[in-house]
Amino acid sequence: MTTKTARAVHQIARPAGFPAAGDFAYVESRVPEPAPGTALVENLLLSVDPYHRGLMDGGEDGFALDTPLEGRSVGRVVASLDPGLAEGDLVFHREGWRTHALVTLGRDGARRLPGHPGVPLEAYLSILGGTGLTAYAALTRTAALREGEDLFVSAAAGGVGTAVGRIARLLGARRIIGSAGSAAKVRHLVGELGFDAAFDYHDGPVAEQLAAAAPDGIDVYVDNVGGDHLEGAIGALRAYGRIAWVGAVAQYNGDRSPAAPRNLFEVVHKSLRVEGVLVRDHTDLQEELEDFLVPHLRTGRIGTDTTVVQGFDRTVEAFRGMLRGDNTGKMLVRLDR
Ligand SMILES: NC(=O)c1ccc[n+]([C@@H]2O[C@H](COP(=O)([O-])OP(=O)(O)OC[C@H]3O[C@@H](n4cnc5c(N)ncnc54)[C@H](OP(=O)(O)O)[C@@H]3O)[C@@H](O)[C@H]2O)c1
Repeated sequence: MTTKTARAVHQIARPAGFPAAGDFAYVESRVPEPAPGTALVENLLLSVDPYHRGLMDGGEDGFALDTPLEGRSVGRVVASLDPGLAEGDLVFHREGWRTHALVTLGRDGARRLPGHPGVPLEAYLSILGGTGLTAYAALTRTAALREGEDLFVSAAAGGVGTAVGRIARLLGARRIIGSAGSAAKVRHLVGELGFDAAFDYHDGPVAEQLAAAAPDGIDVYVDNVGGDHLEGAIGALRAYGRIAWVGAVAQYNGDRSPAAPRNLFEVVHKSLRVEGVLVRDHTDLQEELEDFLVPHLRTGRIGTDTTVVQGFDRTVEAFRGMLRGDNTGKMLVRLDR
């Protein structure tokens, strides 16, 4: 072991609206010793996610103040008293937002990573992680996307959004349309990711921009944003269209009851289906996801689509940046050692 000091991010105050840097503190402690049945893991990569924002409000399932925050992480075993884990093993676990963690296999989905040759570590927290699994479940299960169908996804340049674009293309979608928060992201979607059309939602009403990008309508909408995006998509969907509702990131820091959608009754007129997607209900698809994507990651047909912030002491900055839209692809933090 190279250090005796561990560091963790604690939440020390409840955010009022957008989280402030002062709502968090970096706290040092001694690196813990593994107890029987656990392994000490040095974290290598951390994931900062929109769902963290909701948990920061507290409540029954929320984060407690003044304890290490938790999140998805990939790390390397440095000492083990768990017969299933050996020194040097790579593991996925949920004890993130800290440099060191005691991990028990199977707890909260903790697992030894297969380490597919040719697949970067970042993939296990992006397209092969909860992000990709959300996209895969939304498309294959909830929306049951069929070959030749047209798709719209919001927050398209983010983690789930880019994964939706990649996976939908591999599944044979016809037109893929995305919305994002800047001209650079729009260019990235069309240029790098092969979207057929994209628009910046700041440039005008979503409904109008979507109607222009998809004049013949869409079959499937994967909603990451809610509000006016959902309203626009309901308007653009053809009869028997499906909405896989993944998140409502526009509402996490402020208005929890937006005015839109005001056209919900069109769901009846057009026989639409609206269904929520919770990734934890679809963990049985993990192996299928890997079998489907790993060959394409190896050949380079698809990438991992990440923005990686370097340094544990920038975790809070990365989290706040992700909520502001600083990321293209999944926002991750690489620990500095
Ligand atoms: N249901 C589940 O199990 C599950 C699992 C994972 C994720 N999710 C949800 O999926 C969505 C995407 O998550 P992610 O991890 O992939 O994050 P992400 O999309 O990589 O990052 C969040 C993005 O949200 C966009 N954004 C922020 N404020 C916005 C606003 N007011 N209007 C429109 N866009 C806004 C920003 O991009 P722009 O620059 O484009 O604004 C930002 O990059 C979130 O709603 C999240 O809660 C759900």
